[in-house]
Amino acid sequence: MMRFDIITIFPEIFDSYFKESLIFRAQKKKLIQIKVHNLRDYTNNRHQVVDDRPFGGGFGMVMKIEPIFKAVKSIKSRVKSQESRVILFTPRGRKFNQKTAYQLSKNDQLILICGRYEGIDERVAKIADMEVSIGDYDLMGGELPAMIVIETVSRLIPGVIKSQLLKERIPSVRGRAGRGFIEYPQYTRPEVFSPKKGVSWKAPKILLSGDHKKIQEWRKKHQKIISS
Ligand code: ADE
Repeated sequence: MMRFDIITIFPEIFDSYFKESLIFRAQKKKLIQIKVHNLRDYTNNRHQVVDDRPFGGGFGMVMKIEPIFKAVKSIKSRVKSQESRVILFTPRGRKFNQKTAYQLSKNDQLILICGRYEGIDERVAKIADMEVSIGDYDLMGGELPAMIVIETVSRLIPGVIKSQLLKERIPSVRGRAGRGFIEYPQYTRPEVFSPKKGVSWKAPKILLSGDHKKIQEWRKKHQKIISS
């Protein structure tokens, strides 16, 4: 069982997303467990303040270290896991890709810290095992990155998606699962689709031939291996 602990000031953002589809089923099947923790529950001031003005001045607010430290400590003390990683989402972090997803899927607990506001106290990085970015663009917080990491890692956990599907999409390197994934063009009915008069978009005939060997060859020829 893989457990994800999310630390956020917007716990409700996750409500609908994790109650749908395969991620929901994976939780029901006890293949994964997702717990969302409200950072404000770890403050010890009456107003549940999680941010403050930056030292040295400047625009915006900075997330404080104390509540985040307390949250991580409390989660770690409650859950006895073998392999746990604390991840801090930040645009300067290691770029997330399929290879990182494989590595993360070998843990049994991921504690995900979602930053918000204009910044986060630099010392929070000391609590984290890894800083992760989902791409070179600036978001308003780490909540979407957390969802992306949870979805990408969850699909690699046996039983979450059909194993044939996973096998078909993972290229093997010398008989072992590789690090990227395979994409090839797919079609379904109708065989011919007409977006406007005189134009028809046809599915490749070979895919309707029933010739399994030829279909495999065609897919191999048209596949893209997406890897790092
Ligand atoms: N926080 C803000 N932007 C981010 C990004 N691109 N990746 C991860 N965390 C972020």
